Amino acid sequence: MRKICAANWKLNFSPDEARRYFVEWSELVGTIQQARQTPEQTAPLNCDVVFFTPAYDLPVAVEFAVKNGFQIGPQNIYFVNSGAFTGEISPQAVRALGAEVALIGHSERRTLFGETDEAIAKKVKASMSADLMPILCVGESLAERESNQTKDIVGRQLRGGLELIIGDFAQSRRFTIAYEPVWAIGTGKVATPAQASDMHAEIRTELETLLGKKRAHEIPILYGGSVKPENARELASQANIDGFLVGGASLKPKDFLAIAATL
Ligand code: 13P
Repeated sequence: MRKICAANWKLNFSPDEARRYFVEWSELVGTIQQARQTPEQTAPLNCDVVFFTPAYDLPVAVEFAVKNGFQIGPQNIYFVNSGAFTGEISPQAVRALGAEVALIGHSERRTLFGETDEAIAKKVKASMSADLMPILCVGESLAERESNQTKDIVGRQLRGGLELIIGDFAQSRRFTIAYEPVWAIGTGKVATPAQASDMHAEIRTELETLLGKKRAHEIPILYGGSVKPENARELASQANIDGFLVGGASLKPKDFLAIAATL
């Protein structure tokens, strides 16, 4: 399967700053292209690159995505496409704008904004209906890990998130999982390669139970939580780690590119 390197900018960068970022990104990717003598129509990286930007940066992102061959998407969507839902983001509208992916159930949405497994399941379904590939985030808190609940929590989040799409949707459309232990997000404490690889194997087994063996092995499982250029290579070499979801280090084009180059 093709690996994925996804940037989650969180609440950073105005449209002007986003433009400056993508100019720098394009220059850096162009340099690699020349160094490797990659023909212009061929992607210079061995993975798909995705940027999850704030919603107001998506128009700038799409301009550069078309030229540079990466995908873009919102960090959250609502499960309804239009109506009296002040402040929400329509899956259909961002798809029309050029988004191809949507981040769903990030731990910051779960803990700071009270998103439940039930709401997340509806968002996963709405995103697939709108032809946006969902990247469904799962992951345990420190207290849950320390009380040996990691597998139960992540299992519940997976079953909850997939509940409404098991059946034809899950079989016929693309989707991706991101495992992000909450204690590793923004803390500089990365999961060890063994910890990450163990959980990814657990997630793969749970997916086999939910969707069948063949389908389970077509679904990329990304790792997220303090991924940096210095630790990416070892994580990338682990079985079942099919890419990264990167927060802080994605804010510097050079660092994000260095991470993508390890895949
Ligand atoms: P950091 O890479 O800053 O730890 O953030 C991870 C994350 O939350 C990506 O979604």
